[in-house]
Amino acid sequence: RIYLSGLVGFLLVFTAEARVGNSSELNVCTETEQCLLFDLICKTDDYEVRHYDSVNWVSTDEKSWSMDYASIKAFRRLFGYIKRNNIKMTAPVTLKLSDKTSFFRTGIYTMSFLLPVEHQQSPIQPTDEKVFPDMKVYVRSYGGWMMSWTDRSQAKTLSSALDSVGAEYNGSFHYAVGYNSPMTLFKRHNEVWYVVQDEPVCGSSEERDMSHIS
Ligand SMILES: *[C@@H]1O[C@H](CO)[C@@H](O)[C@H](O)[C@H]1NC(C)=O
Ligand SMILES: *[C@@H]1O[C@H](CO)[C@@H](O)[C@H](O)[C@H]1NC(C)=O
Repeated sequence: RIYLSGLVGFLLVFTAEARVGNSSELNVCTETEQCLLFDLICKTDDYEVRHYDSVNWVSTDEKSWSMDYASIKAFRRLFGYIKRNNIKMTAPVTLKLSDKTSFFRTGIYTMSFLLPVEHQQSPIQPTDEKVFPDMKVYVRSYGGWMMSWTDRSQAKTLSSALDSVGAEYNGSFHYAVGYNSPMTLFKRHNEVWYVVQDEPVCGSSEERDMSHIS
């Protein structure tokens, strides 16, 4: 009996950690050993709905009038931090930004690096860490380079698609999510995320209304 409960305990810990996992499980993840994994709830022509478990990140804020400038500064700071502490690089890297910041107006940009499995349970300097809550997100993927104009245009496309099906999301901010180093030229993968509010909506509002009736 003691053996059994020990085993259950181990399995629970393993499951809790399992959402940061081997990048071979995610085909867009090609440059790091470990990646953030998720459950796909549904997929339409315009977006995916994903569920992410709560995990630990290291984050930094950068105040700037430019997303591009803020990302470079924040990336250098976080990269320095993980190098000093011997923490491996993971993917993706997220940048949280307000949808209310317009061009050339100062905004706060929060960049986060996902901590690898070995640092999830024993954070190094807790004051530098941030826990992302368990969350569901609407996701739109795109290739090429993530820059302030590509990110904004993709965020706009995603929010229009969500509005057209009556999906509820927090439109005050979104995440710009990158999976590649700036040195990588081909097969780049980027995403935009909006955080789901209430129940996620998959498909058109007509389909949804029909499913209520049936
Ligand atoms: C990831 O998975 C691949 C293939 O399944 C395996 O060869 C590799 O050793 C794994 N890496 C880690 C860090 O577990
Ligand atoms: C939306 O996000 C903002 C910024 O994080 C937060 O202050 C606000 O409470 C959120 N709105 C809802 C309805 O959760």
